[in-house]
Amino acid sequence: MGNANMLVAGSANLDFVVRAAHVPAPGETVLGRELALFPGGKGANQAVAAARAGGADVRMLVALGDDAFAAQLEAPLRDAGIDASIVRIAGSASGSAFICIADDGENSITVAPGANLHLAPEHLPAFGIASHLLMQLEIPLASVQAYARAARAAGVKVVLNAAPAQSLPRELLDSIDVLIVNEGELAALAGTHGEADLSVQCEAVGVACVVVTLGARGALLWRRDQSAIEQPAFPVDVVDTTGAGDVFCGVFTAELAAGAKPEVAMHHAAAASALACTKLGAQSGTPTRAELERFLADRAQ
Ligand code: RIB
Repeated sequence: MGNANMLVAGSANLDFVVRAAHVPAPGETVLGRELALFPGGKGANQAVAAARAGGADVRMLVALGDDAFAAQLEAPLRDAGIDASIVRIAGSASGSAFICIADDGENSITVAPGANLHLAPEHLPAFGIASHLLMQLEIPLASVQAYARAARAAGVKVVLNAAPAQSLPRELLDSIDVLIVNEGELAALAGTHGEADLSVQCEAVGVACVVVTLGARGALLWRRDQSAIEQPAFPVDVVDTTGAGDVFCGVFTAELAAGAKPEVAMHHAAAASALACTKLGAQSGTPTRAELERFLADRAQ
């Protein structure tokens, strides 16, 4: 597979975004403002972040429908220099997501997966020179498991962002090198309902390296038999947190693929993710590598 040093296998969605005073509660109707459309999907967001802010050579395996959305999802991958391995699903819609963003920057998201659910085990391309495989959970779990198994067999490191939250089979957890989760996802995997200390929950999951993203509190790097490392968040004026976790995952994995230590990767990923929150849209907020380096240099003074 060309010169890509990492492969992202995952989803692409067209995000239908409306801003409102607050996110609707169950049963509530909220009058929002104008509708905006953005390319999104956890897989595509992470691939774009890895290529743009992470500076990695990225290949992405993605399934798109045969509708008008497909071109809008493909263009930003190509613009970011990603080598897109696209599976075209006849008769299917592309993935889409319906997002409400509150004035405080928080959001609620409902995904209609469409073609993403057709990404199958046999679609996996050769790993080539890729050292890392990055995945999320918006494609079928059977495919995530098959890709992880194949990566392990090929000596490729597996990074899983276990989002959206769900419990996972032991066999999959055993084939993961790095797990990236937020607190809710960690609780779902640890079966602790979040009441235990973060390190206790990480230990309970049974993956040797776990990164927990903590929103405005930063991130935590937990490794078995090592002291946990905390990464404070970089303070910014938040406009939209949609995709901030994806930017973190993409940049973190790109840094690992470039040979960085996990704590350095976490530092850069936290900075890129903070910058992403200052703009509207999951991918449009992703900084370039130059913007990220300038931001880090400014804060190092
Ligand atoms: O993580 C944010 C993403 O989740 C959005 O872009 C949306 O498409 C959903 O996949």
